[in-house]
Amino acid sequence: MVALQTKRAVSKTSGSNTAQPTVHVVEPTTAELRAQLPIVSVRKLRVAYNPGELVLDGVDLDLFPGETVALLGSSGSGKSTLMKSLTGFAPITSGSVRVAGYDVANLQRGQVRQLRASAGQVFQQFNLIGRLSVLTNVLTGTLHKAGAINLVGGFSHADRVRAMELLDRVGIAHKASEPARSLSGGQQQRVAIARALMQQPRLILADEPVASLDPRMSDSVLELLRGIAREDGIPVLVSLHVVDLAMRHADRIVGLKHGEVVISAPTTHLDARDLEGVYHHEEDDDVDGNA
Ligand SMILES: Nc1ncnc2c1ncn2[C@@H]1O[C@H](COP(=O)(O)OP(=O)(O)O)[C@@H](O)[C@H]1O
Ligand SMILES: [Mg+2]
Repeated sequence: MVALQTKRAVSKTSGSNTAQPTVHVVEPTTAELRAQLPIVSVRKLRVAYNPGELVLDGVDLDLFPGETVALLGSSGSGKSTLMKSLTGFAPITSGSVRVAGYDVANLQRGQVRQLRASAGQVFQQFNLIGRLSVLTNVLTGTLHKAGAINLVGGFSHADRVRAMELLDRVGIAHKASEPARSLSGGQQQRVAIARALMQQPRLILADEPVASLDPRMSDSVLELLRGIAREDGIPVLVSLHVVDLAMRHADRIVGLKHGEVVISAPTTHLDARDLEGVYHHEEDDDVDGNA
């Protein structure tokens, strides 16, 4: 069931040098989601790495349990920065960022680690330790909670059992004892996903998780992520630069352009033409290889 639609043109008082976008907002995804509290709630977020240079300029974002949201935008539009903002890795200039109960802009001592433990992360380059076994790589997902990395101390039997269960879930239990580097890219990304699940995350952030994979692998990894979102009732935020993948594998699309949200709508309400505006046009000055 789809919730009622609203379209509104939002005028902004931003300091950015872009033309004012017409924001197309149809939210939230479904009535069921609306009834739940968001796991992530971002309001009027501004981020600047250097004084006066806004990389995110007034971003609003809600992520609800069970939904897969694709973040689209040209290279440099701020996708990675938005993800980093959710785990305290980006300099928040103003606005509020609430993630799994944490007030990210005002974290207390010790909360940084807890926040990061609650967000499972998946990266383009997998970030596995190649010489270690697949199983050990998954087990390192428990270290977020422990804080210190101590591979010598060993892992508990319960953790090993759980890691094997997760490898089974992502379809590569038969590779458990092999060095991670011997696996294909798609398999390595599955290991990385199992490692993220080892944290028992409240949400998953996947930054360009399929940019290094071929199309078939991309489809299967994105479907795996979407299945996890639904089965575990956690939001998955996944940045992509291929519109078609977002349309097929996400419940909702958030488009960023020059650090502003220019589109936010369920995929069922969109067609590829709606998304054209997310990417650069000739009048834009910076050239982008990904779009
Ligand atoms: N650590 C940093 N210091 C300064 N500028 C940065 C840093 N990280 C990203 N930027 C700048 O912020 C903008 C957005 O980058 P990013 O969030 O990586 O975009 P995307 O992931 O969409 O490609 C770019 O102009 C980039 O150069
Ligand atoms: Mg990026």
